[in-house]
Amino acid sequence: MEEREIYSLLGDSGFQELVGLFYGQIPHDEILGHIYPKNDLAGAEQRLRDFLIFRFGGPQRYIEKRGHPRLRMRHFPFAVDRAARDRWVQLMNTALDQIALPDEAKQLLRSYFESTATAMMNRP
Ligand code: HEM
Repeated sequence: MEEREIYSLLGDSGFQELVGLFYGQIPHDEILGHIYPKNDLAGAEQRLRDFLIFRFGGPQRYIEKRGHPRLRMRHFPFAVDRAARDRWVQLMNTALDQIALPDEAKQLLRSYFESTATAMMNRP
């Protein structure tokens, strides 16, 4: 399976569910809760959703609204250390556990999130 086929399996609604399950855990999280903007969590949720839809073969709404992703640069203002990275991956894996998707596609997403989250680290 190709990464870009994942959108045809999940669609907008599947990505909405996944990202909703992820962000639902953020406000109470003792590590990530302080990092995310409390007054614009809905906006943050939409940006991640649009980005993943674009990245996994769906419409390019993220690019139309935000331009080139430059994800590492966009994370510089936030202290992403090993603990934050590990927790991010853990919350995303918990969200993935709850959605319906073939194992092969879930495995692709898990590996993608692991390596991208590692690349986002900008503190020891
Ligand atoms: C490693 C731990 C991570 C932390 C602590 C973190 C934290 C954050 C924070 C605080 C924001 C600002 C929220 C906002 O959009 O207003 C953000 C934005 C964003 N993050 Fe992360 N993030 C992490 C990993 C990732 C990963 C792995 C991805 C992609 C799979 C990702 C994708 C994004 C995207 C697309 C945005 C919006 C960028 C924009 O257009 O402004 N992040 N992240």
